[in-house]
Amino acid sequence: MSGAPKSVESLLALYERRGDEHYGEDVTQRSHALQCAALASGDGASDELVAAALLHDVGHLLGGDRPTGWRDDVDDDRHEALGARVLASLFGTGVAAPVALHVTAKRWRCAVDPAYLAALSPTSRATLVAQGGPLGDTERERFAAHPSFRDAVRLREWDDAAKDPSAPLRSVREHEPLLRALAARPGPAHP
Ligand SMILES: [Fe+2]
Repeated sequence: MSGAPKSVESLLALYERRGDEHYGEDVTQRSHALQCAALASGDGASDELVAAALLHDVGHLLGGDRPTGWRDDVDDDRHEALGARVLASLFGTGVAAPVALHVTAKRWRCAVDPAYLAALSPTSRATLVAQGGPLGDTERERFAAHPSFRDAVRLREWDDAAKDPSAPLRSVREHEPLLRALAARPGPAHP
């Protein structure tokens, strides 16, 4: 992956450079990321999960513009896998795994919660199709047994709620100390 951030500084710089890009539903990528992190923090999430909430859509900032003819209901950008790869090398699996699974968490929730499925926005409904639709029985069981299942489902809840167009605009730099502390940790989860 050329141009992928290899340090906390280059990650923050990426958000400063491209954070004003449209996330959808009337919020920018940066506002969505900050709202998601604030919700996680307000719910007493661990530092790793707050970082995952902040950075869960970094894959969108790593890709180029969507090619002509892109269709949300057909084409899947696999942004969660792209982002998780970058985050795994910087912070380890505690941050990367919930990010890798936040699309699966949406597909799981759609399978187990009909009201959630019915309430999806038109955009989210279109991308659900491209993402493979609601999980089937076997996939559901496998996901529920994953060690990061709960974190991924919580992340998805914050993700879905982090779309307030009137949220105050702040800087991702306010999370710099937390990200630097996580990146500096030794341990088996951190390659
Ligand atoms: Fe998101």
